[in-house]
Amino acid sequence: MAQDDLKLSVARAAVKYVPEGKIIGVGTGSTANFFIDELAKIKDRITGAVASSKATAERLAAHGIRVFNLTEVEEIPVYIDGADEITRSGAMIKGGGGALTREKIIASAAARFICIADESKLVATLGKFPLPVEVIPMAYKLVAGKLDALGGRAELRIRDGKPFVTDNGNLILDVFGLQIGHPLRLEEKINNFTGVVTVGLFAQRGADLCLLGSPDGVGTLE
Ligand code: 5RP
Repeated sequence: MAQDDLKLSVARAAVKYVPEGKIIGVGTGSTANFFIDELAKIKDRITGAVASSKATAERLAAHGIRVFNLTEVEEIPVYIDGADEITRSGAMIKGGGGALTREKIIASAAARFICIADESKLVATLGKFPLPVEVIPMAYKLVAGKLDALGGRAELRIRDGKPFVTDNGNLILDVFGLQIGHPLRLEEKINNFTGVVTVGLFAQRGADLCLLGSPDGVGTLE
């Protein structure tokens, strides 16, 4: 079964968790895009969505789904998003698409985080996928040195020959070679480096439920 078919299957399963008449949080990435396309089919049943990136806002709006700013919203009953890696306990690496900061903000505002992922994302230990860290541009070399000192190798994310710039106007360092045995501790440590906006470790606020797609069907982790 192709990976895209698995992503579609979890996107379809996630629609069943969308509450009626509410504003939900929507993530970023290829799995989230499948979810947005499925959400469009039931758009009359929701009030709208808060988007975790400009790309997601554009896709939602193109489907005629009303997009709200977080500041306009009283409650977000559920946030639905993909992940680059997830453990059985719901800790994740996110930010492969560069939207980690807004994703973490909406996730922390949401009552429930539902992760949608194909089975290739399930890992015993986080860290094979390079850990994204959003940094204030003037601090990127300073922060890269501190990340290297943790035992990783921090590389400035480059796209189309230029530094990748986030929706917030910042840069991303991708940290290779980490074995993340204690995600909570590492999240706290990296977030405390001056110049770091967000680390793409979601352990303090992990997923409450993961819908995991495999050729045998959609399983759940909670
Ligand atoms: C974007 C993210 C995505 O959720 C993550 O990269 C997974 O993406 P995909 O569904 O395309 O595999 O964190 O910042």
